[in-house]
Amino acid sequence: MQNIETVRNNLLASIATSATPREILKLPELKQLMSVIATLPVEERGAYGKSVNELKQVLESAVIDRETELDNATVESIDVTAPWGINNKPLQLLPTENGSQHPLTSELENVIDIFTRMGFEAIESRQIDDDEHMFATLNFHENHPARDGYDTFRTEEGFIPPAHTSTMQNRILKNGKAKLESGGQIAAVSYGRVYRNEDVDATHEHTFYQCEGVFVSETATLGQMLGTLRSFFETYYGQKLQIKTQPAYFPFVEPGLEFAIEKPAALGGKPGEWLEMLGCGMIHPNVLQAAGIDSTKYRGFAWGGGVERLVMLKYGIEDLRHFESGKLAFLRKFL
Ligand code: DAH
Repeated sequence: MQNIETVRNNLLASIATSATPREILKLPELKQLMSVIATLPVEERGAYGKSVNELKQVLESAVIDRETELDNATVESIDVTAPWGINNKPLQLLPTENGSQHPLTSELENVIDIFTRMGFEAIESRQIDDDEHMFATLNFHENHPARDGYDTFRTEEGFIPPAHTSTMQNRILKNGKAKLESGGQIAAVSYGRVYRNEDVDATHEHTFYQCEGVFVSETATLGQMLGTLRSFFETYYGQKLQIKTQPAYFPFVEPGLEFAIEKPAALGGKPGEWLEMLGCGMIHPNVLQAAGIDSTKYRGFAWGGGVERLVMLKYGIEDLRHFESGKLAFLRKFL
């Protein structure tokens, strides 16, 4: 472990001053650390491998920071009064730098594509809403303690930039009521940006994306919900997955559950390493009634969760803040 510390300090120092920081990740020191694993007693290998993986993530982050610093240095030398170019030299744009989609947009399109192929209609979530939709119609009465869990921003006029995509549920249910009553079912996903007054760190952002699903019919069951979610996750990650649930409380579902998948070995998971992916449950009768739907005749299930979490697992991204950082070095990895 002593050796890992030394390599970490040396490489971090080199990255911080290098003009080609990514090359440093190719130095033999890192490979050597990996090759030591085979020489260790079996019981020490797990902890050692974990430390080396952590080191790799720290170095990757440092490389992105350094690349960003180098990029910004270039940007500063742009002569804004010149018709175009940098220091009167024509811009040397990479062919890919004419603009490209943000990775969250492409991944969200991917997510929506999977659900629309299953028969769900996709509806963009609102960026500004009100108490009625964010809370009241979701069975949070005015002084409900669970409101505190949503760290909600409010404008002076009392509007709310929504803290979850569940804010669309009441509209989806109201709009689908006629379809239900003519023998059909409601199947919709709502997706979009949500906002919370959070302290920002590697796993928390004030601005992030969620995707939410709502299904209502005369016969909807929890089993159908689990099947739907399992198909979604297996399609998104392109492999078979183990799933599990545990009880959780959300005012708008009864029963409410947290849904977890076992982290796939191909993505660095160990057996028994569970990742909580979303909240879900059977839609509370009060939520159906608030949309004018007869809860003695119809039943439904709903789920909702963060999009970044899905993407971070898929690509091994260790820090949520990269997404909103505008760091070109990070964004270029998805071109
Ligand atoms: N809206 C919840 C949140 O942001 C997530 C959620 C839980 C959505 C359960 C649902 C649900 O539709 O049924 O924390």
